Amino acid sequence: MSWSQQRLEECIAERLDGATLVVVANREPYIHVFEDEEIRCMRPASGLTTALDPVMQACGGVWVGHGSGNADRVVVNENDRVNVPDEDPRYSLRRVWLTKKEEQGYYYGFSNEALWPLCHVVYKRPRFDTDDWLQYKSVNQKFADAVLEEVGDCPALVFIQDYHFALLPRMLKQVRPDLVVAHFWHIPWPNREVFRVCPWQEEILDGLLGNDLLSFHIQYHCNNFLHTIDRTLEARVDMEHFAVTRGGHTTIVRPNPISIDPEATASRLPMNLDHVERKLRKKWGLKDEKILVGVDRVDYTKGIPERLAAVDRLLTRHPEWKEKICFLQIGAPSRMHIPNYRQLNDDLHAQVDEINWRHGQGAWRPIVFLNEHHNAWQLATLYRIAAVGVVSSLHDGMNLVSKEFVAARTDRRGVLVLSKFTGAARELTDAVQINPYAVDEFAEALHVALSMPVEEQENRITRMQQQLAENNVYCWAGNLLSEASKLLQVPQSVEEQIAQAVEELV
Ligand code: F6P
Repeated sequence: MSWSQQRLEECIAERLDGATLVVVANREPYIHVFEDEEIRCMRPASGLTTALDPVMQACGGVWVGHGSGNADRVVVNENDRVNVPDEDPRYSLRRVWLTKKEEQGYYYGFSNEALWPLCHVVYKRPRFDTDDWLQYKSVNQKFADAVLEEVGDCPALVFIQDYHFALLPRMLKQVRPDLVVAHFWHIPWPNREVFRVCPWQEEILDGLLGNDLLSFHIQYHCNNFLHTIDRTLEARVDMEHFAVTRGGHTTIVRPNPISIDPEATASRLPMNLDHVERKLRKKWGLKDEKILVGVDRVDYTKGIPERLAAVDRLLTRHPEWKEKICFLQIGAPSRMHIPNYRQLNDDLHAQVDEINWRHGQGAWRPIVFLNEHHNAWQLATLYRIAAVGVVSSLHDGMNLVSKEFVAARTDRRGVLVLSKFTGAARELTDAVQINPYAVDEFAEALHVALSMPVEEQENRITRMQQQLAENNVYCWAGNLLSEASKLLQVPQSVEEQIAQAVEELV
């Protein structure tokens, strides 16, 4: 039986048996911002929050996250909580406030200038700064305090997200060894040789071994993690059962690929799609060109310059596509306080201008770059009206844009061009897979995708949609939370204790 939101809701309610579910993620699923003196609730551009919000809507509980919106403080109650979503509250969001100094050191600094490039290995040098590290430690402690306050004395399953909280599992276990702590690491884990340059590697690894369950998207990253432990810490690594024992405590390490809710994506398509498409084409100055679409946060791991270079090369090698295609790149600005990200944003504008100047003819330009955030409804429409979806990450834990593109194709048309260096490439084997570093190969793949017969498009999309229906986000959460909840020891009521004693007696 495949997983649905309802099955997850029933299964987790049964498994938790009264224990609280606490999700900890740096990014909050709903951000409140002032806009024209009104307060607006926004959804961030984040695969993590897109995937986890429907899970929390199904399971209920508390999400502990950084309150980053300028109106966030206005809408919370005296316990820094707000119920979300606004229109139909299903769970509680507990906001943790950070000073600018903390945000700079913990989020921009250690998380995104040290761990992010360290784990992605895309040839950006990690920056290890001692002050950032100290902020990272103290913010992990701040989140630990908030979680402990949320759970009180009750049994709870704490489900931690990502590389912002490597130290949190150990901090929680030191105070409450009975808590069940599971952690999903959304980005790749590099091999031991790469990781060993980190000056605080032992503390990070020890922090992660506070978890009862630690999960990555793919087995390869689990193996990298286990090898890293084996070479760095005093611990028993069991490669047969994928588990690590240190100081009498065991952490199990499992692969579990994250996904989306494909039905929810499809349901975001407008009824009057043709009308919307006509309006959008007019807005972008397009006639009937085939649209290729790329949707990313502006991040150097996403391979956006490589993709634009491939479009450039396509038009040089196959000039017959001139005036027949348009590459639409959505680039949501991201982490703009980090110099590498600001630089990339500027470089992309320059690269687009250059390519448009070189190949443009009359009013036609090959690339439209929309350097702004788009919401989930707008993105579903863009995926649906494109002929080709392009995902060219240089390295990516999963990449949910590729899955959203497939799910939005209710017409069973369209071709996905997908980097083989994404976790998604292991599941979406009917995509046209590319090496984004190989510009000629990439350009040829775009040509193949643009020329693919309709019947083949239909076969490929159908198979990928079947795979998504089976392995949706409820399957991801269901497997993970079921495994973790086996470790919960919920205190028995007096009646239950008597019943168990009687059973043991007879
Ligand atoms: O992929 C890693 C990740 O942290 C995701 O978990 C998240 O979707 C994305 O990057 C967004 O990053 P940020 O929260 O820093 O904007």
